[in-house]
Amino acid sequence: MSHEPADLIKEGTTEFFVYSSKTSVKGPSVRGNAPFYNPAMELNRDVSVLVYQWLVMKSTQHVHILDGLAASGVRGIRLAHELSGDFEVSINDWNDESIALIQQNIQRNQVKNVSVFQRDLGCLLLERRYHAIDIDPFGSPVYFFDAAVRSVYNKGIIACTATDTAALCGVFPEVCFRRYAAWPLHGPSMHEVGLRILLGCLCREAAKYDRGIEPVLCYTTDHYFRLYIQVHNGKSAANASMAHYACIPANDIPLSPRTSCMIGPLWLGKLQNKTAVQEIRSLASTRELHTKHQIWRLLDLLEEEADAPAFFYTINDLSSSLKVSPPTMAHIMERLKNKGYLATRTHCTPTGFKTNAPGDVVAEVFK
Ligand SMILES: C[S@@+](CC[C@H](N)C(=O)[O-])C[C@H]1O[C@@H](n2cnc3c(N)ncnc32)[C@H](O)[C@@H]1O
Repeated sequence: MSHEPADLIKEGTTEFFVYSSKTSVKGPSVRGNAPFYNPAMELNRDVSVLVYQWLVMKSTQHVHILDGLAASGVRGIRLAHELSGDFEVSINDWNDESIALIQQNIQRNQVKNVSVFQRDLGCLLLERRYHAIDIDPFGSPVYFFDAAVRSVYNKGIIACTATDTAALCGVFPEVCFRRYAAWPLHGPSMHEVGLRILLGCLCREAAKYDRGIEPVLCYTTDHYFRLYIQVHNGKSAANASMAHYACIPANDIPLSPRTSCMIGPLWLGKLQNKTAVQEIRSLASTRELHTKHQIWRLLDLLEEEADAPAFFYTINDLSSSLKVSPPTMAHIMERLKNKGYLATRTHCTPTGFKTNAPGDVVAEVFK
């Protein structure tokens, strides 16, 4: 290999070699020639360990998980090493150097329940079926949606990461329209809009094959989106999910900078299965995970906002729009709740809040 020698890293309880293209633990990594590894994605991988453990625990049969775009193999090997129960993992990447590194990492961890493939993920998915399919690409996962919804078994999980935040958050609306056939919104709720566009796109892809989707756990961070959805067979499941797939007037999104256009189509249903989030949270306590406290904070927020309406207000944007100095979050929440409305924080931003109160009530409690 022509690259610098690999570093030995530990995530969870798994040690593995990587070619570090980046040392910072924040933000996106650089896409180079060596197998890719981004330390900033440790939380993303830690959460996946918990979600797949939850799936294996819930399942009454053998679970076959595919790490479809594996690079160093870190995610798949961690699953093989850290999960318990009746499962196996397949790890795939089309790159020669990734395959060599994946083999090295499998040997290092002495994991037995693993098989390795060097295929184009799209082709692999058309030939084989899995109970869980993990898609962690450079940029958009959309190119694999059609094959993934055909491959996954009934009640199986499709998980994907999307790092094309500029497209999904409306910096490049035409790119979003080309990829996802949906118009985004660049404004305070853009991360939630982007997450819902991704979900809407998966919902539409699944419905073509008479399959419905149910979000298990979905979240956004500054530099990526992450979805875990469960797929259900049948026309009524497909119809039930398509009932949540629609365009909405930009005006319906709080503090929208655009007023006279339509946004979407996007997913307007729930973003989380609240019970699943609670169960997944409880699995963290027995595990060695470096990001455990961040995960708890994230899952607490996901649980808190699970039943809240779509989209949110941000204190700063609302105070500039109303031209008043911003009250504290606690003050707003208390006043909304005292008036009998639902009020929750959101994981999308620390200054955001969700409520079912009408706009004039929100303005009144803010002053
Ligand atoms: C972002 S990296 C994966 C990172 C990895 N999941 C992790 O957690 O570190 C994307 C990987 O997908 C591989 N890849 C891209 N397109 C592919 C395709 N169509 N089929 C198979 N592998 C592909 C690349 O070689 C690269 O290693």
